[in-house]
Amino acid sequence: DLPEPFQVPLSVPPVLRPVRTDGTTDHYEITQQVARLEILPGLRTEMWTYGGTFPGPTVAVRSGRQAVVRHRNELPVPSVVHLHGGHTPAESDGYPIDLLLPAAAGLPAGTGPAPGTSRAAHLTGAARASDLHGTARTAGMPGMARMPVGRTADGDRTYTYPGRQRAATLWYHDHRMGFTGPSVWRGLAGFHLVLDDEDDALPLPRGDRDLPLMLADRSFAEDGSFRYPAVDPALAVPGVTDDYMNGVLGDVILVNGAPWPYLEVDRARYRLRLLNASNARLYRLELDPQPAGGDALVQIASDGGLLEVPVPHDAVEIAPAERFEIVVDFARYAPGTSVRLVNRFGTERTAEVMRFDVSSRTVTDDSAVPERLCSLERLDPGTAVTTRSFGFRRSRSAGWTINDQAYEPGRAVADPALGSTEIWRFFTDVHHPVHLHLDHFQVLSRNGAAPGPYDAGWKDTIDLRPAESVEVLVRFTDYPGAYMLHCHNLEHEDMAMMADFVVK
Ligand code: C2O
Ligand code: CU
Repeated sequence: DLPEPFQVPLSVPPVLRPVRTDGTTDHYEITQQVARLEILPGLRTEMWTYGGTFPGPTVAVRSGRQAVVRHRNELPVPSVVHLHGGHTPAESDGYPIDLLLPAAAGLPAGTGPAPGTSRAAHLTGAARASDLHGTARTAGMPGMARMPVGRTADGDRTYTYPGRQRAATLWYHDHRMGFTGPSVWRGLAGFHLVLDDEDDALPLPRGDRDLPLMLADRSFAEDGSFRYPAVDPALAVPGVTDDYMNGVLGDVILVNGAPWPYLEVDRARYRLRLLNASNARLYRLELDPQPAGGDALVQIASDGGLLEVPVPHDAVEIAPAERFEIVVDFARYAPGTSVRLVNRFGTERTAEVMRFDVSSRTVTDDSAVPERLCSLERLDPGTAVTTRSFGFRRSRSAGWTINDQAYEPGRAVADPALGSTEIWRFFTDVHHPVHLHLDHFQVLSRNGAAPGPYDAGWKDTIDLRPAESVEVLVRFTDYPGAYMLHCHNLEHEDMAMMADFVVK
């Protein structure tokens, strides 16, 4: 039986303390580990976690400071860490075959997996995944040498994030080729906030009234363990069973790891940093009841940080990996009102998300949403040096594809010049949330018309509905190398709807 909604209080993930800081850099350490957490009341769920919690600890860094995060892999499987929305040099970007191998006992560093170890069994899985995707890879796998060789690390890996980007709500998650879906499903996701003076100078809600909210749907077995319809339960071969070709949906909605939580709120403004960390679910979020006069959700930022001006919405549609920062003023409700955050795209239980209980305490609120938040540079389509088109489609022979090709590491579909601006056009068959690594982009048009109500600001993920076509402007800056373009429906991604582009 599913638990009743609104029985568990909302919690906010802990902010990670640096182990060391110096004049330029904050150093962090995260151990990826198995943990048995109480997600459903009274039951334990075995999870793969960053640091033993779900969501993982929040990394919060100042813009302009470098963050160096050392990950140690104590999971039974290889991992890859990607900072989603990060402006990151290629070697730290979490290229999907840059594996961080489990820190298995008894293997000297650098020798790679030995036959007969459990680690080798998982790597065999990884190898078969690559076969399925039409390539072979990774150092330390005899007989499978063919370009490219992933930058494999044994046990520990250091990811460097230079921090040359504005304030924004980013997140980090697993990105292992062929297995991102099951790995994120089991818990490998956390917030990474970039903070800066421009954002601090605004009178927006802060402190306890600035809440990161990670939405993720999951399914559980009777004993509390996760259910994930992998085509191969041993995770040796990527992909899911036929019924889940469109992506895996769960019947329990978690917010910051709690099922349909509740939170007592003051009659004051709150900044909600909404992240859709679901594998495949698209939400249409509304408050119920709506406050008199509507416009309950005032959007102040998107994937890439502050908008120029706030955009009021009655509802926000949020696809996998997107972030919307909204301000809600609970003073618009009478004391004692219960306000549900609901999902109009859901049915029954998946139509509920969480509940805010408006307190009757008298509080002061000196926050405000200014009419103007910041000034944004507009990329000029006249400066674009080329237009490239990418079709996100399912093909009979190759499965989920980009331009009719299944993912193959090392085969680039675009080679933009460093510093250049291009127009990228994405078109689809069914619904796909399209994500670009390295740089944020601006939406130029949707189906030949003006951008939609959720397209404002700098984006890194754009939701494409069936048969839509979108043009975005992107400038490739600072870091050459191989980066990813992919569908962020994680099952589509795992089933090869991904491509490399190489910035030259
Ligand atoms: Cu959030 Cu390439 O992914
Ligand atoms: Cu897709």
